[in-house]
Amino acid sequence: MTTPTAPAKSMDKIVSLCKRRGFLFQSSEIYGGVQGFWDYGPLGVELKRNLKDAWWHDMISGHNELIPSAGAPGTYEMVGLDCTIIMHPQVWKNSGHYDLFHDFMVDCKESKKRYRFDQVRCREVTHQDRSIYVATLAEAEQEEEDIRRRGMKFFKLRNKDADKLTVGDESITIDKLDSTENVLAPDAKSLGTLTEPREFNLMFKTTLGALGGQDDVTFLRPETAQGIFVNFKNVLDSSRVKVPFGIGQVGKSFRNEITPRNFTFRSREFEQMEIEFFCHPDQSQDWYRYWRDRRMNWYLSLGMDPAALIMREHHTEELAHYSVGTADIEYAFPFLPPGEYGELEGIAHRGDFDLRSHMEGKLDPATNPMTVELNEHGKPKHRGSGKDLTYRDEATGEKFTPHVIEPSAGADRGALAFLCEAYTEDEQPDENGKMQTRTVMKLHPRLAPVKAAVFPLVKKDGMPEAAKELYGELKKHFNTFYDDKGAVGRRYRRQDEAGTPYCITIDGDTLSDKTVTIRDRDSLEQIRVKLDDVVPTLQEKIDG
Ligand code: GAP
Repeated sequence: MTTPTAPAKSMDKIVSLCKRRGFLFQSSEIYGGVQGFWDYGPLGVELKRNLKDAWWHDMISGHNELIPSAGAPGTYEMVGLDCTIIMHPQVWKNSGHYDLFHDFMVDCKESKKRYRFDQVRCREVTHQDRSIYVATLAEAEQEEEDIRRRGMKFFKLRNKDADKLTVGDESITIDKLDSTENVLAPDAKSLGTLTEPREFNLMFKTTLGALGGQDDVTFLRPETAQGIFVNFKNVLDSSRVKVPFGIGQVGKSFRNEITPRNFTFRSREFEQMEIEFFCHPDQSQDWYRYWRDRRMNWYLSLGMDPAALIMREHHTEELAHYSVGTADIEYAFPFLPPGEYGELEGIAHRGDFDLRSHMEGKLDPATNPMTVELNEHGKPKHRGSGKDLTYRDEATGEKFTPHVIEPSAGADRGALAFLCEAYTEDEQPDENGKMQTRTVMKLHPRLAPVKAAVFPLVKKDGMPEAAKELYGELKKHFNTFYDDKGAVGRRYRRQDEAGTPYCITIDGDTLSDKTVTIRDRDSLEQIRVKLDDVVPTLQEKIDG
């Protein structure tokens, strides 16, 4: 594992900038907010849209199917889809989500809070000869400090007696303890308030039709992937693609997460950017490796620091019910302790699980993926669609069920990672030469919400008119901002915080020689270019 070289960034400062500058707001904030739901403000919506557009272009519409991409085992085609959020309930039975998509949760009888079982971690805290277990949530910042403070409070110790308390080094999950009697739950004051773990399905339930009864219950999709699998035959028949090929989809997914937290990292409503790549079983390992590398390189191409990203291969016991191999691309999110990483994207080798399940019925997890799960009468527990979802290779005549490689990325998690990566502070002189801390969002120009800002140096001598004309011209090509308020230095700072890569100033010379200055957000270099060259110059800088 590599350790990020960049200094630790403050999550509090990033969250506060996101709100102050209009990247992200809590949903329904004026009513106190609703946990796990987030709204994108004027800058945030542009950032997320740019991220999704970059993904769609680089993975789907811009893909060259005539020549092999670097590292690919061969050429392939890519097409897109846009499926509904609500689907036939049988989809979720056969996908396995109905039976298997759950988390274990524990409730606290005192605080009435609910936690994901696997996230409650304890450390042994001893005072004299009495030991208790103080629980916190995994990923919590300053875990050690928090545990010590709560231990002191529990044992009623003053600060001067801090050395009379011992905090164990090992952090353990509560299933490792004989009982929870001695556990101080994350938000409790007394011991033993946690219930036994209970299963909780993460899908949001809804009912079809006004008179809907039990048979009309269905779910909001927890992943976009299933829409792709159930349309496999439609795409084959309508677009004449040949294996190997991929289908991409960007859209909302919903999960009733027990503990949504860490800003947008774990939300209840979020967007995914998923590819289901269909290939011959014999080639599936090669394609799996290809997609792992391709997706990692994509993040790097958009400005991620290689030291802040890792590729982590899952252990067998971590694999989802459908997966025969998964690697996660993980990012060193600043809310995690140093050296820890959070999932940004999963690349899973799903074998033929999904297509076979939708053909034959839900596969038996006990013998997965070879047999269909049977009920007590020996009949399939969940009937499949009965439709033939196999593929026939026209050239060889071979008929097979394609294997699937699934690069599955989160648009919100991606946007959050790029926001965290972009957040930078440096020291720059202000207009009086005094050093000031500058906050700058070093977003890749393709992702930046606003590509250019146009400033007249002063509000007279024809400068505003010339600046407005240039603004109008740039608007045809890029999201551009016009600002004539306050000192130029302050206008630069405002754009630095918004992540605008280029600021263009119209000054006295512009009117005589038809040139402007373009200032680069990161290097602070200023170049002088002809007014007519501004559009092509920016175009080249943004697209690279
Ligand atoms: N179809 C496979 C699938 O959905 P996943 O690992 O559960 O796999 C894929 O989700 C990606 O979706 C994750 O890597 C993450 O980026 C995003 N994601 C999943 N749950 C999320 C949540 N609660 N909030 C925000 N993003 C989430």
